[in-house]
Amino acid sequence: MQTKIFTTSEKDIAAAGEIIKNGGLVAFPTETVYGLGADALNDDAVKSIYKAKGRPSDNPLIVHISKKEDIIPLVKEVTPKAQALIDAFFPAPLTIILPKSDKVGGIVSGGLDTVAVRMPENETARRLIVKSGCPVAAPSANTSGLPSPTKAKYVIDDMMGKIDAIIDGGDCKFGVESTVITMACEPPVILRPGAVTREMIEAVIGEVQVANAVLEGMKNDEVAASPGMKYKHYAPKARVVIVDAQKEAYENFVNTRKDAYALCFEEDNVTIPKVTFGRENDDLSQARELFDALRRLDEKGAKKVYARIPGVDGVGMAVYNRLIRAAAFNVIDLKKPYTIGLTGPTGAGKGYVGKIFAEMGFTVLDTDKYARQITAENSPILPLLAEKFGQDIIVNGRLDRKLLAHRAFSSKENTTALNSIMHPAILDLCKRDARGLTVLDAPQLFEAKAQADCYKIVCVTAPTEIRIERIMQRDGIAREQALERINAQLDEDYYISNSDFVIKNDNNCDIKTQINNILEVIL
Ligand code: TXA
Ligand code: MG
Repeated sequence: MQTKIFTTSEKDIAAAGEIIKNGGLVAFPTETVYGLGADALNDDAVKSIYKAKGRPSDNPLIVHISKKEDIIPLVKEVTPKAQALIDAFFPAPLTIILPKSDKVGGIVSGGLDTVAVRMPENETARRLIVKSGCPVAAPSANTSGLPSPTKAKYVIDDMMGKIDAIIDGGDCKFGVESTVITMACEPPVILRPGAVTREMIEAVIGEVQVANAVLEGMKNDEVAASPGMKYKHYAPKARVVIVDAQKEAYENFVNTRKDAYALCFEEDNVTIPKVTFGRENDDLSQARELFDALRRLDEKGAKKVYARIPGVDGVGMAVYNRLIRAAAFNVIDLKKPYTIGLTGPTGAGKGYVGKIFAEMGFTVLDTDKYARQITAENSPILPLLAEKFGQDIIVNGRLDRKLLAHRAFSSKENTTALNSIMHPAILDLCKRDARGLTVLDAPQLFEAKAQADCYKIVCVTAPTEIRIERIMQRDGIAREQALERINAQLDEDYYISNSDFVIKNDNNCDIKTQINNILEVIL
């Protein structure tokens, strides 16, 4: 099929209206996104919309009108609250759902007994509806599952050759689809947030609800109030992850990431390639640019994208709702520390791996260092140790470490007693100092039961021969003693089977690549 490209001239709009009148498909600009229009009362024409978009047939379409009173024949009754919204807002980026009249066919309403109606603010859209001489059914003019088109060129990308005509009316003013509210229940429920905000609606008709699915993923057994909510939406080809963090923490995080794009605000200072969607405290600019940004990421061939989290007030709710779907609900919460546990048997080179994590921007917490800190001169833990292991382990306020080690490691029971004093105190300090992306470097991670505080666990291993050499060198001890230390620990298999990832650290392994491979999976 040859797709005509029209301007907004009188002649072109008249020709586009003729096409719709005759059962054809025309993409047209609205103040939200481009729509793909057909005669809403012609079942065959409506069917061809679903086909052109590749849209599931149970996902109903919005019926567009050019005058407020044109809603009357489409619905059973215009309720007083619905009328109040119409009077206050129409024409607007607001869609109202009411029980449908018999005039509306089952195809446009996706088999439901309700119909969604909207009177667009955009003048070209209304002129087209007038020329068509019928209500115009129109979903967003994108291929199903892709970001909605906010510019004519994106409609051309998706629809060229599949529809009769595209009217190029420039960029869309709001950039996110209309607010959808169902008035078929009480209180009314916002099914999709848009530029007409909850706050604006409540100022007119009092309390409304917001469907759970707006800000969260749908539970598996949940029935969708709006069929459109159950589909993965707005998804670019890249894997998108939302990073829940303030500006600086977000910047620090993305600046440590390689081979990724930042989807951020104009003010954000990032050193990796970026695509912006508006300004931080300007939800209208974010809404206007989000879909365009998602499409540009595809054009750039982005594989992995870290998105700055928008606010959820006002139009921000609409922005967040679209972005979280584009991200398939993947959110990294950096407001609380994101801790990776790093452990492994002695001599495997855990400290070296920790150093590389630190170079990559992680906060690395060294439990050995904390152990020395809490047993420093006159520290409050010393009397507890003395009570258990004898007063003579403290001399002039100082711990005799050798004597303590001798007593504590003399039996399993004593070792456990020492751990039960030391581990909780160390973990408290770790929790105090954890910030953003954190690595907890803990040889005794399992013994201290610190798994619960870690998002994922990485263990470092090395062949026994290499470990023996490293221990002998590091501590200046003989081979037998090194072996003794190795044998006193959990065996390597225990570390491996209780960890999520293993880093191999014989002397020729590329640690950085191994870390990046892990981060690729978990971040
Ligand atoms: O801004 C917009 O609304 C754009 C422009 C073109 O007007 N249109 C648009 O249409 O976004 P579409 O089809 O992409 O989204 C319509 C949404 C879908 O999520 C659909 O499930 C829901 O509205 N919807 C339509 N009729 C419904 C009904 N009777 N009950 C519940 N949800 C309905
Ligand atoms: Mg859509």
